[in-house]
Amino acid sequence: MTASNDNRELRLLGIETSCDETAAAVVLRRGPANGVILSNLVRSQLHEHAAFGGVVPEIAARAHVEVLDVLIKQTLDEADLSMDGLDGVAATAGPGLLGGLLVGLTTAKAIAAARRLPLVAVNHLEAHALTVGLTDALEPPYLLLLVSGGHTQLLGVEDVGAYKRLGTTLDDALGEAFDKTAKLLGLPYPGGPEVERRAREGDETRFDLPRPMAGRAEPHFSFAGLKTALRRRAEGLGAVTDQDIADLCASFQRAACDVVIDRTATAMALYSPAFEKKLVVAGGVAANRALREGLEGLCDEKGFTLHVPPAALCTDNGAMIAWAGAERLARGLSNGLDFAARARWPLDPDAAPATGAGVKA
Ligand code: KG4
Ligand code: ZN
Repeated sequence: MTASNDNRELRLLGIETSCDETAAAVVLRRGPANGVILSNLVRSQLHEHAAFGGVVPEIAARAHVEVLDVLIKQTLDEADLSMDGLDGVAATAGPGLLGGLLVGLTTAKAIAAARRLPLVAVNHLEAHALTVGLTDALEPPYLLLLVSGGHTQLLGVEDVGAYKRLGTTLDDALGEAFDKTAKLLGLPYPGGPEVERRAREGDETRFDLPRPMAGRAEPHFSFAGLKTALRRRAEGLGAVTDQDIADLCASFQRAACDVVIDRTATAMALYSPAFEKKLVVAGGVAANRALREGLEGLCDEKGFTLHVPPAALCTDNGAMIAWAGAERLARGLSNGLDFAARARWPLDPDAAPATGAGVKA
C-alpha cells in the first residue's frame, strides 16, 4: 500500500472499548502524518476491577454500556462538533474482550447507519502502531515495541496496513507479568506503577532471577518462568519485610527490562537495515522509567532514534482509534456494517503461530 496523497480533511470519531478503558475522541486528519486531537476522553474502570486484582470481562462490558453514550456526547461537545460534522466513525473491532468490543463496535455501527457515515473497524494493535503519526508526525517504516497489559510484540511497521510480526510473547504480556508480580507481593492493582515505585528503594542484584528467552534467535518473549521464579524466592523468605518486597520488585524489574532490551536488540538486527533506524514504543509499560532508560541506551548503541508517545496516548485511548480510522479512510478503506468483532486479530496474517501456553496473537 502506498502512502496516501489524500489531503482532504477528515474528522473521525474514535471509540475504544476493548479492555478496561471506555474511551472516545475526535481527531482531525489534515494530511499524511498531520493530525490534531480535537477531544480525547477516557473513563477508566480501575475501581470496578481493583477488588479482583485484574480485569473481569463481564464487569468491563457492563461498565462500557453504562458510560459510552454519555462519553461520546461529551467528546463531540468538547470538539465543538455535532455528528453531522463527522466524516466517519471508527471503533476498535479487535483484538480484545468480546463483550466490550461488541459495545463499542455496535455503537459505532448505529451512528454510521443513522448518519450515513463510513464505518472503520480498527485493529487495536494497528492503532497503537500508528499513534506516532499523530504525536510525532512519524511515518512508517519503523520498528515497534508494543508492551501493554494485553500485548507484548515487536513489529516491523512497513506501511499503514503492512506489518511484519518479528516477535510476540509465548505466555504472559509484560504488563500482565508486572501486575501478577504485584498481586503476588500483595501490592495494589494495577501493579506496574506500584512495582516500579517499590523497585526504587530496592536492590536489583539481591535476587538472581532468570532472563527467559534471552539470546534466542527469534525475538519472542516469555515471562511465565520469571514470575514463577519470583514466587519461589518470595515463598522461600517466609515472613516478607518491606525491604524484601522492594528488592524483589527491583530484581524482577531488572530481569524483565534486560529481557526486553535483549529481544529488541535482536529485532533491530533482524529488521532490515535498509529501513530507517527508528524505534517506537507503545503500550502502558512504556511509562516504566527503567525500561525507557534501557531502551535509550540500546538506541544510542545501535544508532536508532527512540520515539515514545506521551503517556496518555501510549495507554488505551480513543484518539489512536480515530487516527487509525482516519489513516484507513484516507486510503479509501472502510468496512461494512456486518463487520464482526474479533477477540483475536493478528496484525500480520503471515506470522507463523508462536507456540506456548497462552499465546497472544
Ligand atoms: O496499554 P495499557 O494501558 O492497557 C492495556 O493493557 O491495553 O497498559 C496497562 C499495563 C498494565 O499491566 C500496567 O501495570 C502496566 O501497563 N504499566 C506499567 C507501568 N505503568 C503501567 N508497568 C510497569 N511500569 C509502569 N510504570
Ligand atoms: Zn492497548
